[in-house]
Amino acid sequence: MRSTEHDGKGASAPAVSAPAASAPAASAPAAAPSIEAAMRRAIELAANGPAWGVNPQVGCVILSPDGVVLAEGWHRGAGTPHAEVDALTKLSAASDAIGATAVVTLEPCNHTGRTGPCSEALVAAGISTVYFGAGDPGLRSGGGAGTLSAAGVRVHGGVLAAEVERSIHPWLTAMRNGRPFVTVKWASSLDGRAAAADGTSQWITGPDARTDVHLRRSRADAIAVGTGTLLADDPSLTARMPVSTGETEPTLYAHQPQPVMIGERRIDRTARVFDHPLPVIEYQSRNLHGVLADLFDRGVRSVFVEGGPTLASAFIRVGLADEIVAYLAPVLLGGPLLALGDIGVDGIADALPLTIVSLDLLGPDLRIVAEPVRGESSAVFLDSPVSSTAGTSSSTASTSPTSVISVTSVTPSTSDPKEHHLVHRNH
Ligand SMILES: NC(=O)c1ccc[n+]([C@@H]2O[C@H](COP(=O)([O-])OP(=O)(O)OC[C@H]3O[C@@H](n4cnc5c(N)ncnc54)[C@H](OP(=O)(O)O)[C@@H]3O)[C@@H](O)[C@H]2O)c1
Repeated sequence: MRSTEHDGKGASAPAVSAPAASAPAASAPAAAPSIEAAMRRAIELAANGPAWGVNPQVGCVILSPDGVVLAEGWHRGAGTPHAEVDALTKLSAASDAIGATAVVTLEPCNHTGRTGPCSEALVAAGISTVYFGAGDPGLRSGGGAGTLSAAGVRVHGGVLAAEVERSIHPWLTAMRNGRPFVTVKWASSLDGRAAAADGTSQWITGPDARTDVHLRRSRADAIAVGTGTLLADDPSLTARMPVSTGETEPTLYAHQPQPVMIGERRIDRTARVFDHPLPVIEYQSRNLHGVLADLFDRGVRSVFVEGGPTLASAFIRVGLADEIVAYLAPVLLGGPLLALGDIGVDGIADALPLTIVSLDLLGPDLRIVAEPVRGESSAVFLDSPVSSTAGTSSSTASTSPTSVISVTSVTPSTSDPKEHHLVHRNH
């Protein structure tokens, strides 16, 4: 049953039924899902949107006052309607929103960008109650809960907060830190070598692990390597699908990560990376804080760091690794070329503690995803203050301006860590 009779300001909360195993789709028979079930459904819907880009994945379910799902929506990336507006447009009649409840994963935004503020759209539609999972950390986009409350809408935050946080963890981390979320990836032998003694490393792991790497590349905003890897391996840094039977060339994923090279040495323009479909961003610098600040300003929210050992160690040493993805192959290589070098650990007391997020076998190889344990005991691993990461850059046009953006200096420029939160959801 759908209600269009409420004034949207004094309506009672929707009926809450026993938790459903899975929330019904908008077209499913009427059933009264609980707010939590609706939030679980909103998390599922959010995952339909792109994992990359300046905006987060967001999902929304609109419930009638008696708890029937009226509409569902999700965000499809910057420049497209936000989840709340998408759901509102899916209502059978606009008047169905009057007195209805919106269950949305992220606090409705408060900011006019390429689209209008969701908080105002919800108020204008007549929504009476809003439940959301995570607060929006953006200085401009955040604050929607206050706008809604001021307009008389009942607002409840923190619904399934842990699940919502987990589902958009990289984006939230990026927004809170004012720099992209950094994944440091390496492939190593069981004895922790990233390459054989002669420097060859292709391929330590098998096809399944490499397929997984390409999938992860395709979900990242940017992929970064040091000049050492560019000179040793001449990688193309594209995200490629596995080669199917009958195909000679791999197909590229529709979404490609922006290629980023870091290091003072100049890389010859004949390198394969310059054939990448996106322009290469070349930082002739070793200032990782500055590099990340500049990437954040360019709208990059996640960076997949693919080595080699020197760059991976440098990111970890300065506390800029949010996630480790290590592929361990059942081979022994011995020799001096370790997966990590100096990460600032001198004694066992300084060891950097990690939490294992997942362990999976991919063919013969083991994939370990781990995150740093944040706390006083892991001070080296803590992020450096954002104030020192904020930077300006000077870009110089290269000989091939369409294929490379040369950034010759990245320097700290502001002491206000919050300034970077001003660059955020791009509507
Ligand atoms: N197994 C794997 O997963 C994997 C992945 C990639 C590469 N590899 C292997 O790794 C080897 C190359 O290793 P690599 O360590 O030389 O490559 P790398 O880490 O990609 O590049 C090292 C270079 O990065 C630059 N750099 C940028 N920021 C830096 C910072 N903050 N601190 C220090 N250096 C910084 C420096 O170059 P400048 O001197 O130009 O400033 C440095 O020499 C090759 O054998 C390759 O096959 C293995």
